[in-house]
Amino acid sequence: MTTAQGTSASARPPVLVGMLGLGVVGSGVAQTLNEQRERLAEQAGCPVVLHRVVVRDLSKPRTPAVAHGQLTDDTAAVLDDPAIAVVIELMGGEEPALSYIKRALGAGKHVITANKEVMAKHGPELAALAAERGLALHYEASVGGGIPLIAPFRQSLLANRISALHAIINGTTNYMLTRMAKEGVEFSPVLAEAQRLGYAEPDPSYDVEGTDAAFKLAILAGLAFHTRVAPEQVYREGITKLSARDFRYARELGYAIKLLAIAKRANGAVEVRVHPAFIAEDRLLGQVDGVFNAVEVDGDLTGRIMFYGRGAGSLPTTSAVVADLIEVAQALGHGGRPRPAVAGDAGLPIQPMDEVVTRYYARMTLRDQPGVLAQIAQALGDLQISIASVIQKESDSAAQVAEIVLMTHLAREDSMQAALARVRLLPGVVDIGAVIRVED
Ligand SMILES: NC(=O)c1ccc[n+]([C@@H]2O[C@H](COP(=O)([O-])OP(=O)(O)OC[C@H]3O[C@@H](n4cnc5c(N)ncnc54)[C@H](OP(=O)(O)O)[C@@H]3O)[C@@H](O)[C@H]2O)c1
Repeated sequence: MTTAQGTSASARPPVLVGMLGLGVVGSGVAQTLNEQRERLAEQAGCPVVLHRVVVRDLSKPRTPAVAHGQLTDDTAAVLDDPAIAVVIELMGGEEPALSYIKRALGAGKHVITANKEVMAKHGPELAALAAERGLALHYEASVGGGIPLIAPFRQSLLANRISALHAIINGTTNYMLTRMAKEGVEFSPVLAEAQRLGYAEPDPSYDVEGTDAAFKLAILAGLAFHTRVAPEQVYREGITKLSARDFRYARELGYAIKLLAIAKRANGAVEVRVHPAFIAEDRLLGQVDGVFNAVEVDGDLTGRIMFYGRGAGSLPTTSAVVADLIEVAQALGHGGRPRPAVAGDAGLPIQPMDEVVTRYYARMTLRDQPGVLAQIAQALGDLQISIASVIQKESDSAAQVAEIVLMTHLAREDSMQAALARVRLLPGVVDIGAVIRVED
């Protein structure tokens, strides 16, 4: 195989790679680097060689793609080896991954990571460190697994002023919500099944409370709006309070319920929130089911576009990691420097959740007595919230209660919360079962 310059790619000096972690993703990366060696060398313009791999437990059985002699439990064997030009961090978690990435950059190594937690919490600081030294810091695999997202935001979409992004970026919860919607199953049995299938962790809170989606949204919103978004600035509400009946009622009204990660430009600020939301069933995003992910972007030049695919899994994630590696190796193989990390910050403020304006769906159980609905309308009206529709769903004549579903017009979050607090105190209101925001 010969490059455009006439030199055989495999005859050029190799780019040596050190990897931290050989789990689900690391094994896929090792296997691909091993099995696709020739094709990758051709794409990179030089051989790309996995030199050392750090793991925690040397006695675990491993992929045959890594020879036992390449494995080590000593991080210094990668971070302090001057021959290693690129470090791939695939350990996960905040520490020690963060310290290792800093050490790698400090030692002049380019870094590729799939670590959403580290990039969401420390991305700007690491990007500045890498930029200062002219090093690459690539993290395509940190959001959306195999779906290209970071590169499009860093390159292809740069000409756009992005007004909004709406994303389904947690496959576990999307799988669970799809089962609840399609089969009428409640949250707890669906969670138990997701755990049995290995989609959900034994401690599922990272997924079901929206933490994972909030990390990913912080990264995407930061790129889309060229501004720093810390994960704790993302408003976060999980899916644990949803009931199968909400999905039934949503469908009757023409909606799906999804755990949405939303970032929008609003009044010179950026709103960033993760919560369950009604979304029109005929919108593409409303039809993204199962473990699939999708990110919908509204740009002033592109209009609405959508990225869709497998947001996790060994091989989809490997695709993103290895693409980042090829990009770095291409530059190094030609004696140049890879595209350095971008450390820009437009400094847009984050809109407080209280000021966010949306429509709402509310499901309530009321005592079957006259005047209750008028009192609810009054409580909402006192805070300038008007009701778009009320539908009586089920009534239990023995218990003398009825369930209603109401949809509001646009309202501010703080007004809606204040109104709900008043509604809860009304003697005719037994319970407010669910309040879900509507994304039109
Ligand atoms: N799995 C996915 O589908 C997916 C998708 C997108 C992004 N990611 C991200 O990719 C990264 C890796 O995920 P994964 O699923 O591959 O994780 P994993 O299967 O748990 O593998 C983690 C690897 O890191 C090693 N490790 C952990 N802590 C270590 C330490 N302190 N020192 C040395 N080695 C250590 C482990 O060693 P042992 O093998 O010896 O335990 C293991 O090989 C995470 O940041 C994750 O968020 C994963």
